[in-house]
Amino acid sequence: MKKYGILAYPAKHSLSPAMHNAAFRELKMDSEYRVYEIPEPEFGDFLKTVKHEPISGLSVSLPYKEVIFKHLNVVDEDVKKIEACNTVFNKGGILYGYNTDHVGSNMALEEVVGNLNGAQVCVMGAGGAARAIVYGLKKSGADVVIVNRSQEKAQKLAEEMGASVGDLSCSGDILIQATSVWTLNPDTSLEEFAPREFVSGFDIVMDIVYKPLSTPLLAMAADIGKQVVTGEKMLLYQGVKQFEIWTGEKAPVEVMREALILNL
Ligand code: ATR
Repeated sequence: MKKYGILAYPAKHSLSPAMHNAAFRELKMDSEYRVYEIPEPEFGDFLKTVKHEPISGLSVSLPYKEVIFKHLNVVDEDVKKIEACNTVFNKGGILYGYNTDHVGSNMALEEVVGNLNGAQVCVMGAGGAARAIVYGLKKSGADVVIVNRSQEKAQKLAEEMGASVGDLSCSGDILIQATSVWTLNPDTSLEEFAPREFVSGFDIVMDIVYKPLSTPLLAMAADIGKQVVTGEKMLLYQGVKQFEIWTGEKAPVEVMREALILNL
């Protein structure tokens, strides 16, 4: 049996096991996906286990997306640019690092827009999540404007990725909420963070938050009559891409989607 899993701390609430195990069952693969909730002092020893047990593939989440770097044998170009690795593939003891987060956000949007080339996109946020999203958008040929509380961070990310910096007066085709504002400050006023007039300036609104699925921003966007993209889609498609890297098989997307939604 091949072993896969999520490496994170904490990791208990991850939806990835449900999604990947459903895919393995569907394709009748003798494989299992577990939770590897590893505290930082045990991280070094765990990586030895990955090579020797062996564990064939890992989804990597907080706080290891950057730390894992120096333990990889082969680092994909996307990982270097995004400076984060969310996928490890163990091929005969050689650890390959990939980033599928940016593929996930692109595919979630492509479900709706088909092609991102030339799309005018505004990304709210300039942290780790926004970084992968902006990278993916630029790779697909979109025009990206970054709006962030800290102008300095927005400027730095924009320069690195070939995007520009905007404010709450900008408009376009797609608006993406990629900050951790409500995770960190649940009392933040939506009207202050994303005024109705600002949201009205876009056709499609995506929020990367998936708990709850309908966030206050998406509820407002739907109320104005905008098309909304819920956050579980990015999670789904980053997993779909992971599955395909690990197995070389086409992922059963609808089975994975159903497993994800059932476990939300
Ligand atoms: P993540 O990995 O989730 O992206 P992060 O790298 O810590 O987390 O980035 C958090 C993002 O959420 C940043 O863009 C941050 O804005 P700043 O760069 O100004 O710090 C944004 N953020 C967090 N709390 C916020 C708040 N209360 N209002 C607005 N933006 C907030």
